[in-house]
Amino acid sequence: MQHTDIREIASGVIPVGATVTVCGWVRTARDSKNMAFIELNDGTTLKHMQIVVDKATLTPPAAATHLGAALRVVGTVVEAQNGRGVEINASAIDVLGDCPADYPLQKKFQKLETLREAPHLRVRTNTFNAVFRVRSVMAAAIHRFFQERGYVYVNTPLITGSDCEGAGEMFQVTTIGYSDKYHSREEYYANDFFGRRAGLSVSGQLEGEVAATAFGKIYTFGPSFRAENSNTPRHVAEFWHIEPEVAFAELPDIIKIAEEMIKYIISDVMANCPVELAFFEERFEAGLLDKLRHVVENDFAIVEYTDAIEQLKASGRQFEYPVEWGCDLQTEHERYITEVLYKKPVFLVNYPKEIKSFYMKQNPDGKTVAATDLLVPGVGEIIGCSEREADYDKLVAAMEARHMDLSAYRDYLDLRKYGSVPHSGFGLGFERILMYVTGMQNIRDVILYPRTVGSIR
Ligand code: 4AD
Ligand code: MG
Repeated sequence: MQHTDIREIASGVIPVGATVTVCGWVRTARDSKNMAFIELNDGTTLKHMQIVVDKATLTPPAAATHLGAALRVVGTVVEAQNGRGVEINASAIDVLGDCPADYPLQKKFQKLETLREAPHLRVRTNTFNAVFRVRSVMAAAIHRFFQERGYVYVNTPLITGSDCEGAGEMFQVTTIGYSDKYHSREEYYANDFFGRRAGLSVSGQLEGEVAATAFGKIYTFGPSFRAENSNTPRHVAEFWHIEPEVAFAELPDIIKIAEEMIKYIISDVMANCPVELAFFEERFEAGLLDKLRHVVENDFAIVEYTDAIEQLKASGRQFEYPVEWGCDLQTEHERYITEVLYKKPVFLVNYPKEIKSFYMKQNPDGKTVAATDLLVPGVGEIIGCSEREADYDKLVAAMEARHMDLSAYRDYLDLRKYGSVPHSGFGLGFERILMYVTGMQNIRDVILYPRTVGSIR
């Protein structure tokens, strides 16, 4: 269908005086005896295009002023009467699709909670237009960051036989429905599609390590799945995960890469989405642009887990979950560290080995592992990162201590047998960084169709 994007007209690429055809949906309309004014949005920009109808020359179809109706308009680009930008004097209007009065997006500003009930329509609002444009620009920036630096993009399997995080959060993949035919789990799995237990991957890391110990530097960018029973504003069961893995890199090396990547993608979004960020600043987070500028221009903090525990204990703050060395930090602690104590992104390093995953490099102190989480104000953890245990015997010991089934990890252990090298990597939650950059406070509002406990559509 021949037409021009409203983005091009609004940005001045199309000169005043040009005859154009635009297509879009009616966002608001004012109708009077002699004139009609229709604000049309085609999704290519946050800006609506005002369509001016002079009824002396054109009788618009009734549906042309129906909220949500889809129109094709032919007209002339003219300076806007209010002096701001351009508008279109219509010479013809076709209704592509009428929209009845029960259209759910009636009010100009609706609560995000209400909009979640209509995921197929909420994307037509300014908020979601801005969120998904930032999401798209940020995805491209992430690929560009790694591609410019020679990383190989690999696609790791989504169906897997090994649980990377070992936290029992894997969705099971099976073709066998309910049946009392089997006498044991083993028998049941043996008869299933893969002949053994399989699930949706919680992380591409294990296969990422395989690729990194061949290609040197790799990254993945795909979905991960977590059957966590956490109904929080930061958890979804299906999220998008960026996982670089780098051979010949120790913890300080990978921390540098992570910091550089975060700064790169934030700078890129600031350069390419100024209108969207201004919208978020105005509607969702006062001070957002200053925050982002500050992140790009300053070093992140690097803080020992042990020191952070001391600081939390000395803070005098009553936390819901008490703090003791060895405890897994809750969001309230993470946010206190990054929002109150340091007021910027913090790499918390060297966690107790008991609360972290089997694959992390064991530190010489025998108590901690070379792992770090990147914590940011407002969100908490956005990156989980570590140097990997490269020593065969130490890795096996850590797996045995966790009662893991070694036979499911044979390939992984082989990497420690055949030319083992120091290597490190991290996982960035795409929706988490989107929350941070847009100021959106609920992860359900930065993904097209959120999947959460008890909710799917
Ligand atoms: O900290 P996690 O569990 O680390 C891993 O999966 C490692 N294998 C990564 C690696 O080293 N390659 O997850 C990494 C990140 C978290 O920091 C968080 O941003 C995000 O993934 N994440 C989630 N995002 C949304 N919903 C969930 N349920 C998430 N679980 C993790
Ligand atoms: Mg984590």
